[in-house]
Amino acid sequence: LGVYYAMGVQKEERFSKGGFILSAIASAVGLGNIWKFPYITGEHGGAAFFLLFIICLLLVGLPLLLAELAIGRSSRASAASSFTKLGGGGRSWRIAGLLQVLTPFLILCFYVVVVGWTFHYAVLAFSGSLQAGTDFGGVFKQFIGGYMPIVWQAISMMLIGWIVVKGVSGGIERFNKILIPTMAVLLLLLMIRSVTLPGAGEGISFFLKPDFSQLTPESALVALGHAFFSLSLGMGILLTYGAYVDRRQSLGPAALAIGAGDLIYALIAGLIIFPTIFSFGIAPNEGPSLVFIALPAAFSVMPLGTLFGGLFFVLLAIAALTSAVSILEVPVAFAKEQWGWSRTKAVWTIAGISFLCGIPLAVSLGMRPDLGFLGKSLFDWIDFLTSNILLPVSGLIVTIFAGYYWKQAGEAAGLSARWFRIWLFMLRYIIPILMLLVLLHTSGILKL
Ligand code: PHE
Repeated sequence: LGVYYAMGVQKEERFSKGGFILSAIASAVGLGNIWKFPYITGEHGGAAFFLLFIICLLLVGLPLLLAELAIGRSSRASAASSFTKLGGGGRSWRIAGLLQVLTPFLILCFYVVVVGWTFHYAVLAFSGSLQAGTDFGGVFKQFIGGYMPIVWQAISMMLIGWIVVKGVSGGIERFNKILIPTMAVLLLLLMIRSVTLPGAGEGISFFLKPDFSQLTPESALVALGHAFFSLSLGMGILLTYGAYVDRRQSLGPAALAIGAGDLIYALIAGLIIFPTIFSFGIAPNEGPSLVFIALPAAFSVMPLGTLFGGLFFVLLAIAALTSAVSILEVPVAFAKEQWGWSRTKAVWTIAGISFLCGIPLAVSLGMRPDLGFLGKSLFDWIDFLTSNILLPVSGLIVTIFAGYYWKQAGEAAGLSARWFRIWLFMLRYIIPILMLLVLLHTSGILKL
């Protein structure tokens, strides 16, 4: 073995079976579950929207998840070259592959800024100084208007790099095996706290008792887009992780387990947030500021609010951190394959560049509003470009590749004949149309 390494042959990086599922769940459970899911559910009337989200997870999310994993495992290549390696000839599949690396790189730039916010809030909340205030909107504005977000962004990036540099099994898998159960414990503790608050029942029924009159066609597209984002689809992540999966692992059950994991974490996050805000008389439809402004208000008056507020923001920080880890791995795998870089060189170069690119995004929300245009900050533009345009486009590419171009999709996915027919039908006829609708809606062309 020593000679083998000495010859410069790298040991292939692989997940263990359980480690793979945990790591995919760790990628899926992120700010999407704990920050975005509750507020869009709040805006679209609660439980009916939640049901819609589950349907979208099953019908669109899982088939695409399976497609990405199967493509990744069969190609054993980075997200950029998996299509060409499996027979997608010509320049267009090459470009389609490069998009699977460019998109996650751009997301990394702004996501790490938000990871930094969660760390800052975890410290503020644990010290009790967050809960001591009254003007929570002001605190948030003042924070993102200063230099501190850049400091936290740097710290977060170093932490993410430190995990990824240790490799697939020695870093990503090892940390997720600790962090996923930690998140579960934190979620359960916080859930017990919130459902036992006085008046919590109203929040629980808002979240779990469906009122279909609140649903609009727009809700359906928002639910679909979110199911897609929440499973980390279209970001090259599952293509990349797929390449590290053992040949004998069954992908169908793995996809189900990942979907279930993502859903359970979203469900519990809802059971924390809605009872809490209803109990303190806060409106559920406050939008993106829900977690950073409305919740601190609740923690400031809740008994033991310093402890529970602290735990909540630690939970949010872990969720964000483990997702960021998965997205950094995508360009890292690409750089290793394409340029023959060592993991260390790839991680620190990409982390460094992405940190630098993230700085203008971070300050565009505060000190430098002039960095925006057409009424949106630079941060919001990159978020819009990636989440609303590039992700649905990537999803379309994956479904078209697996549904129409890739002849070995059946064997690669390892489904029974009946499930394979259903899967292929979804990939060919249903998902492309739905993804196109999502794209037209999120890009602002289709107004509902
Ligand atoms: N599913 C992740 C989330 O909910 C999506 C994501 C992964 C976003 C990695 C960014 C980075 O947050």
